[in-house]
Amino acid sequence: MFQAARTTATQQIALERNLDHHGHRCIEIGQFQIRTWYSAPYPEEYAILPKLYLCEFCLKYMKSVEALERHQTKCDMDGHPPGTEIYRCGRLRVWEVDGNTAKIYCQNLCLLAKLFLDHKTLYYDVEPFRFYVLTLHDVHGSHLVGYFSKEKDSVLNYNVSCILTLPHMQRKGYGRFLIDFSYLLTRVEKKTGSPEKPLSVLGELSYQSYWRYRILDVLSESDVNEISADDISLKTGITQIDVINILKEMNMVQEHDQRHVLVVDPKILRLHVEKKKKFFGKQQHTHLILDEANLKFIPPAQRIDWH
Ligand code: ACO
Ligand code: ZN
Repeated sequence: MFQAARTTATQQIALERNLDHHGHRCIEIGQFQIRTWYSAPYPEEYAILPKLYLCEFCLKYMKSVEALERHQTKCDMDGHPPGTEIYRCGRLRVWEVDGNTAKIYCQNLCLLAKLFLDHKTLYYDVEPFRFYVLTLHDVHGSHLVGYFSKEKDSVLNYNVSCILTLPHMQRKGYGRFLIDFSYLLTRVEKKTGSPEKPLSVLGELSYQSYWRYRILDVLSESDVNEISADDISLKTGITQIDVINILKEMNMVQEHDQRHVLVVDPKILRLHVEKKKKFFGKQQHTHLILDEANLKFIPPAQRIDWH
């Protein structure tokens, strides 16, 4: 009885102080209350609060549910991110948002991302970036799932600066979709690219899994005696260095007479083809398999600037 009473009292106190049931800091966004993982540099009067209320469309942060409700009656977003829709398939949409033209939205997005990222430092200087925002659409609007940011001019050839799936949507394949999407844009730009380092533990897991899958995919559809790391890089958009590192990790590179030779175990390729079938079967109805035909994207370098 004591334990039960103590749990109830703890929950009551937590609720009164707007913490979640376990006493952790959290945010409320759309239908979801999400426990945060790290702190973010919100202005101090907000940063000290145990709970922030976010408008799910413009990402404005507020101190109370009343403030959020007042805001919702006058929010000037049209139920979607403030950018151009560049991809649509089923309920999935991807929006390109320019850090220059939607500065406040992009700053709010970076602050939100920082709550789930330990090491990234971009929050206010958003102009040099574009943001690719993934949403799920329903009658109420396009609800934020995740995003990645990308430098407009990356000297180091990065094609993703920061990537996030909101925690309540993680482990469902959206991170993989965003990574796949980032490489699709890179291929359309006729480039290869790599994510900004360092990667987080979750970033490393997701990228490693994606790289292996894509490389095995190309190998399983090619004559492995003819293909080079450069060919794989051009077909996938993954940099040659990343391709070689992954091939080495999969023990597929051997040295013969001071030359690097690709050695592929057919069993690994067979296993991959089986895994791919299962993956397609699982994801077909979710539209998480990227359909390039649905992309409406002109590489920024080819756009005509009328201003
Ligand atoms: N434990 C084990 N494996 C995991 C985990 C986990 N917690 N999370 C993802 N994975 C693996 C999955 O198993 C999957 O591999 P599989 O396809 O072989 O099964 C792969 O990673 C991708 O999984 P998804 O469900 O597509 O990815 P998710 O939507 O969960 O998003 C992401 C991954 C974006 C890294 C997410 O975990 C996240 O937002 N984390 C917090 C922010 C972060 O760390 N971002 C990356 C920083 S690095 C950078 O920005 C360049
Ligand atoms: Zn709003």
